[in-house]
Amino acid sequence: MRLAPLAVSAVAVASVAVRAVLGAPAPVTRAVAAVASLGSSGVSGSVVFTKAEGGLRVQGKLSGLKEGAHGFHVHEFGDCSAPDGASAGGHFNPTGEPHAGPHDASRHAGDMGNITAAADGTASVDYVDPRLAFDGPTSVLGRGVIVHANPDDFKTQPTGNAGGRLACGVIGAAKPE
Ligand code: CU
Ligand code: ZN
Repeated sequence: MRLAPLAVSAVAVASVAVRAVLGAPAPVTRAVAAVASLGSSGVSGSVVFTKAEGGLRVQGKLSGLKEGAHGFHVHEFGDCSAPDGASAGGHFNPTGEPHAGPHDASRHAGDMGNITAAADGTASVDYVDPRLAFDGPTSVLGRGVIVHANPDDFKTQPTGNAGGRLACGVIGAAKPE
């Protein structure tokens, strides 16, 4: 199809407008990690991050867990491709601090602590994390969320001795609500 000159210039104007929009994206205020089972763990769920006063609100919901506490971290890479989750790397630690718990002053940025499952295998968490962000060096966008087999002891370096990786998700920008 041959476009009339007027239509061609309308397309040109529209593409300039699109580029202008793309050049100045709205800041991210919400992100989601769809967390999927690694291997045959059967653990899955979602973690929602929302910009909040003093950090990011973290709201996680998981199912398929063994009753009790499970280490719950942001890991360096948003790469869940390895069957054991090793491709997600270690705990996200852009500030070079020791491993600790979410309420400790010095910690890995990714140290979100534990998520605790009830007898039916479901677990939820909802808190504001002061060390997580959507911009700057501690931005969680594109990083990984890992759920572990065992509790995080907040002491053992650099992993919290939380054991194997049961589920993994990549944190991606989401539509604001
Ligand atoms: Cu971890
Ligand atoms: Zn850590």
